[in-house]
Amino acid sequence: MDRKTIIHDPEFGNKAEAFEAFDDIPTNPSRTDTIGDVIAARYGRRDLLKGLLGVSAAAALYGTSSIVAPRSAQAAAADRFNFAELTWGNDENHHIAEGYNADVLLRWGDPITADAPEFDVMNQTAEAQLKQFGYNNDYVGFWPLNEDGSRGVLCVNHEYTNEEVMFPGVGRQDRDGFAKMTKELVDIEMAAHGGTVVEIARGTDGKWALVKDSPLNRRITPLNTEMTLSGPAAGHDRVKTNADPSGMKVIGTINNCAGGMTPWGTYLLAEENFHGYFWTEKLDAEGKPDLSEQAEAASMKRYGVPGLWYNWGQHHERFNIDVEPNESNRFGYIVEVDPTDPAATPIKHTALGRFRHEGAETTIASDGRLVIYSGDDNRFDYQYKWVSRDVVTPENSVFGSTLLSEGTLYVARFNADGTIDWLPLVHGEGPLTAANGFNSQADVVIDARLAGDLLGATPMDRPEDAQPRGDGKVYVMLTNNSRRKAEQVDAANPRAESNFGHIIEISEDGGNHSATRGTWDILVLCGDPKIAEVGARWHPETSENGWFGSPDNCAIDADGRLWISTDQGGGWGRTGKSDGLYSLETEGEKRGHSKLFYRCPVGGELCGPYFTPDSETLFLAVQHPGTDGTKDFKGFERDSTFEDPATRWPDFDAAMPPRPSVVVVTKQGGGKIAV
Ligand code: FEO
Ligand code: CA
Ligand code: CA
Repeated sequence: MDRKTIIHDPEFGNKAEAFEAFDDIPTNPSRTDTIGDVIAARYGRRDLLKGLLGVSAAAALYGTSSIVAPRSAQAAAADRFNFAELTWGNDENHHIAEGYNADVLLRWGDPITADAPEFDVMNQTAEAQLKQFGYNNDYVGFWPLNEDGSRGVLCVNHEYTNEEVMFPGVGRQDRDGFAKMTKELVDIEMAAHGGTVVEIARGTDGKWALVKDSPLNRRITPLNTEMTLSGPAAGHDRVKTNADPSGMKVIGTINNCAGGMTPWGTYLLAEENFHGYFWTEKLDAEGKPDLSEQAEAASMKRYGVPGLWYNWGQHHERFNIDVEPNESNRFGYIVEVDPTDPAATPIKHTALGRFRHEGAETTIASDGRLVIYSGDDNRFDYQYKWVSRDVVTPENSVFGSTLLSEGTLYVARFNADGTIDWLPLVHGEGPLTAANGFNSQADVVIDARLAGDLLGATPMDRPEDAQPRGDGKVYVMLTNNSRRKAEQVDAANPRAESNFGHIIEISEDGGNHSATRGTWDILVLCGDPKIAEVGARWHPETSENGWFGSPDNCAIDADGRLWISTDQGGGWGRTGKSDGLYSLETEGEKRGHSKLFYRCPVGGELCGPYFTPDSETLFLAVQHPGTDGTKDFKGFERDSTFEDPATRWPDFDAAMPPRPSVVVVTKQGGGKIAV
């Protein structure tokens, strides 16, 4: 069958949108709870009879603050974010709240090493790209290198590439059977993926700049960066390949979305939609991958391998499952990099499980153990956390620590009574036995999704970033799930066809992040509070500028306050708002109150955010500017291409396409942000 008709799903307007959503093909068996079961469990029949549940099931369950008039006490209370909110909108440029600077620090193609060539967008090569800042910056982390924090390493993920705005004369190749994707272009794509580590320094003028001759500056890519496997799957038969009969060495990392920094300053890159990079020549009558000859067919199906979204497998055999069926078992992990030692080989920590890791946010539990939260960003997939066996000590607070290989992976079950159980993924316990296909802990981590299915984890509305806070709270971003049907609604995912997502606050028992039980609550239900059918819930004083849809990445600042960046994908036309950064109050009378602080240029998604320890600098990452949903951009109304993009941010140079870039936010005159 012609690949042109196979690969492109006409539901998506462009590749950026499709890439963010293609992971969303539900691969998880759906739950059978009905809204009636949920309501009964949560409220009981007496409340039902009192008419509490009147308007619509979801709105009644979770409040209708949008139609409740503000109480005078609420009107008098202030939130803790001291800034005048930005006006919502969508245009070619980015915008920041008054009194703040938003400066571009690093752009795709910027040379990051002393010997790197200048960016020549018309004549790009893989060799040049390996020394230049990568594409589609997502996670940003910072670690100070001196006492006053004026020097530090910046760690940036490069999630994926958009060939239609990277390369002249190419257009959307996934719609065109990848006819123009030569090995040269594929190698540039590979060199533009992965991560970047650079040293940056703050000048006397308060502006941050790249230290170009720093020996720390380097790229980490799927083209040429060797990595080691650690944990239960390392050396297992299922991760052995022709190129690596030891099952211990992998070249590179892909689709690095969000991530984290460990408490000792190593950099964690999450491998998210790894399945999209795998290829097969064997297609069935419907044009779908034919897995009938694959020994790993059940696992591949659950993970969506091969996704066929890049044709790397046509030029690099290891990405072709017909030749190397085990290569895909070597992706989907958390990768650890030592940003202060360019000679240190990155490590893939298989103990943390294999799934479409959105991020890897770390904290130290009150009992001293390391805890890492990570969501599996797929419709109807799960929220996980990892708890180390040992407590954190000066001796084990080092790169490659056994803290990340000895411990327990848990998956979340959100109970309808408002409690949460963290269910351990341990071989031999419960259903995770040979009788169910799990012969070892290696099988459990490689097939963490299948293990989570058997344990009865709660299928969520696409778990994106999850951010722990020191007091035992965790904020879980659930970005959207338009495929949840009314009969699949449950207490923790209360809306059918949820286009705008919601945020859950978990309170771990005793304020201890290593607890196996806790409670949960819905902090906000996103979307426009004026539209009753949306069923949004915000603090009633949240303004027209302040509400948002599709929470994605998030951060906690030095004062424990929550900030959220959004990714509406091509669906931004539903709100008319560009993606941006929002403050969200979690405490007191203004709980659920949100304000707009920064917004992206059209077609971009906002990533980062990351605060320096003094909260005086905020790093943001504008991903794929000019690409998402540009058919809805008034006056443009077509897909972007290299020659004809919806914006040329940040250069606004007729010879330069839009460039994904890291932005530095500081307060004019200095000081902590929003204080
Ligand atoms: Fe790459 Fe789930 O965002
Ligand atoms: Ca994300
Ligand atoms: Ca996203």
